[in-house]
Amino acid sequence: MTSQILNSFQFNLFRQILAMEGLDLTENAREVFELRIQRFAIRHGLPLDQLPFLLKQDETLRIALAESLIIHESYFYREAHHFTTLTRHLLPERITCTDRPISILSAGCARGEEAYSIRISILEALPQVSSQIKITGVDRSKEMIDAAQVGLYSIHALREVPARLSEKYFAQQMSDLFSPNSEVREGVDFFQLDLLKESLNKEVYDIIFCRNVMMYLTSDARERLKSNFETALKPGGSFFFGTTEVFSNPPVTLRKSQSGNSFFFKKVGECS
Ligand SMILES: C[S@@+](CC[C@H](N)C(=O)[O-])C[C@H]1O[C@@H](n2cnc3c(N)ncnc32)[C@H](O)[C@@H]1O
Repeated sequence: MTSQILNSFQFNLFRQILAMEGLDLTENAREVFELRIQRFAIRHGLPLDQLPFLLKQDETLRIALAESLIIHESYFYREAHHFTTLTRHLLPERITCTDRPISILSAGCARGEEAYSIRISILEALPQVSSQIKITGVDRSKEMIDAAQVGLYSIHALREVPARLSEKYFAQQMSDLFSPNSEVREGVDFFQLDLLKESLNKEVYDIIFCRNVMMYLTSDARERLKSNFETALKPGGSFFFGTTEVFSNPPVTLRKSQSGNSFFFKKVGECS
């Protein structure tokens, strides 16, 4: 067994404090969390044994530590079967039942890979209506939102994008970085938002993606997010979660649905 940086009492203190930010410091990833907490203390010139007390009083410091523990990993065309369900079934259905523009939310969008992937899928499958569909990406991390707006990606982030599409929609920039072209960026906006601390407006989104976000959160935080999404979805709207995530205790108005390999939730009510 590897040596521990924190004893159980200290680890539990950090766990309680980070739960205030919605984070679940699971025992099975304890080593990784301890290492990151230690690095954070060194970087900020703070004694590790005093850190819990400082974090309790200082929200800015607590948010900074939470940010350094959160996983921001994402890539283009991740779990792409969701985008097929979106463009083949959900959007055509939505477009026929309403004259209003369609709004899609990428919640926990990281560096924008998900939001831009949705846009490319729409440009490919539904070019005639792409201008009526608005995509918004939000993330609690300012660093992620800044990166999404700049939009520069390594070839690794494009590994799942079919070659034909990467040639069509990305331009190579300096030092082997790629950026989505103006057609992809059009209709995609990003802003910083902590979904645990701010409420989304009522019935504003037709489709919400919140994939690979809830798995790192406490059960309390997951419940708060679900209720935020339930409120923000329009009647008849759909909600996607990550393929490897368990979405237990869905709100009563959300009904589980399936299309091919994709599972998602549909909000009861008529689209109008
Ligand atoms: C692992 S990434 C997932 C990115 C993308 N959705 C995907 O599936 O590839 C999780 C992202 O969720 C964001 N996140 C976590 N909690 C959040 C919250 N309360 N509000 C907004 N974003 C949050 C993190 O900052 C991180 O960038």
